[in-house]
Amino acid sequence: MTQTSDKSEKNPDALETVPVRTSTGVYEVHVGPGALGRLGEVARGACAGSRCCVISDETVAALYADVAEASLAEAGFEVAGRLTFPAGEASKNLATLSELLEGLAARELCRDDLVVALGGGVTGDIAGLAAALYLRGCAVVQVPTSLLAMVDSSVGGKTAVDLAAGKNLAGAFWRPAAVVADVRCLATVPPELFRDSCGEVVKHAVLADPSLLDELAARPLTQSRLDEGRLTRVVARNVQIKRDVVEADERERGLRQTLNLGHTIGHAIESASELSLGHGSCVAAGLCMVARASEARGWCSADARRRIERCVAAHGLPTTSDLPAETLVRYLAHDKKRHGDGVNLVVPEDIGRVTVRRVSLDELARIVEDGRGEVRP
Ligand SMILES: NC(=O)c1ccc[n+]([C@@H]2O[C@H](COP(=O)([O-])OP(=O)(O)OC[C@H]3O[C@@H](n4cnc5c(N)ncnc54)[C@H](O)[C@@H]3O)[C@@H](O)[C@H]2O)c1
Ligand SMILES: [Zn+2]
Repeated sequence: MTQTSDKSEKNPDALETVPVRTSTGVYEVHVGPGALGRLGEVARGACAGSRCCVISDETVAALYADVAEASLAEAGFEVAGRLTFPAGEASKNLATLSELLEGLAARELCRDDLVVALGGGVTGDIAGLAAALYLRGCAVVQVPTSLLAMVDSSVGGKTAVDLAAGKNLAGAFWRPAAVVADVRCLATVPPELFRDSCGEVVKHAVLADPSLLDELAARPLTQSRLDEGRLTRVVARNVQIKRDVVEADERERGLRQTLNLGHTIGHAIESASELSLGHGSCVAAGLCMVARASEARGWCSADARRRIERCVAAHGLPTTSDLPAETLVRYLAHDKKRHGDGVNLVVPEDIGRVTVRRVSLDELARIVEDGRGEVRP
């Protein structure tokens, strides 16, 4: 694959490549239109084995598994069948995981062979965990097909399933051998889901890239669902932003919590709204609320708060929540990130600069109250 800077007119199909360093070696994230057709070539370079198995949900499998498998076969892999499960978060559980593991065993995949996780974040998480567990760990190539999976879940090596007690409670760190993100797949993502995932894109821009934030505010990504050049650039930049954080903190001990920007209040909104609002929309609202409360405390400038709200609103995402503050605080108290009697709250100080503040639950209640205001000029 060609590095970003080498992309030239001589090679119009060059993919943008973002390397990610981990304690167990480097993997590359390849982003661009048509990347799926080069999955086999990428996998060949990243994995020693001769056989592979594609894991996907039924919706994504119907759209993209044939192309993926054809590319793998062309690169010399023997495709040892396909494992699918019904689309949606409800499948991300131990029962599906068990079926996938039995499916890999029935196909006699070896340790050197390859699992291909083709789909959104649910597929990436559960197929990644299956790969981490099968024979104590076999190679996985992540092929994210949703915007959220491209900019967030496929990078960083976290895998998980949900338990009855809560989301993502059983998992492992298992880094992919490579990631292949074909922005052409985004054309079939339902528009509302695409919009929702823009919440995480805005979050990344607030974390690390003021010019991206302002560009997105002026021209929201929701208007560029079919603009392959822009999608490639924005997805690759998001991957770099997440990469920079996870490289510095692979096992989530410190800096990685900054990726939770907007998530503390966002998770409470998500739980309290009983899944009527998507995760990205809740994060967007949480981001605006924490920015507003931070401005009131002198932690964040009015300019930064205004730019965040403008970008969120431009994407048609919520900038606040009208749920009662007491309701949100009740859910906040259950947040698994809570340790002792306080919460680590990620606070935007400026665009491109965040800090983690330890706040008590009482202070958090006041932050939620102050954050609930309307968008101001
Ligand atoms: N591992 C991590 O670091 C991490 C980070 C963030 C989120 N996540 C996880 O990611 C999951 C959410 O991801 P998601 O929003 O991608 O959900 P998802 O995988 O359920 O995909 C959403 C829906 O879109 C469909 N879809 C995906 N790609 C498509 C395409 N190209 N065309 C048409 N339909 C398509 C899927 O079939 C599904 O119905 C959650 O389970 C969350 O916990 C993990
Ligand atoms: Zn998130």
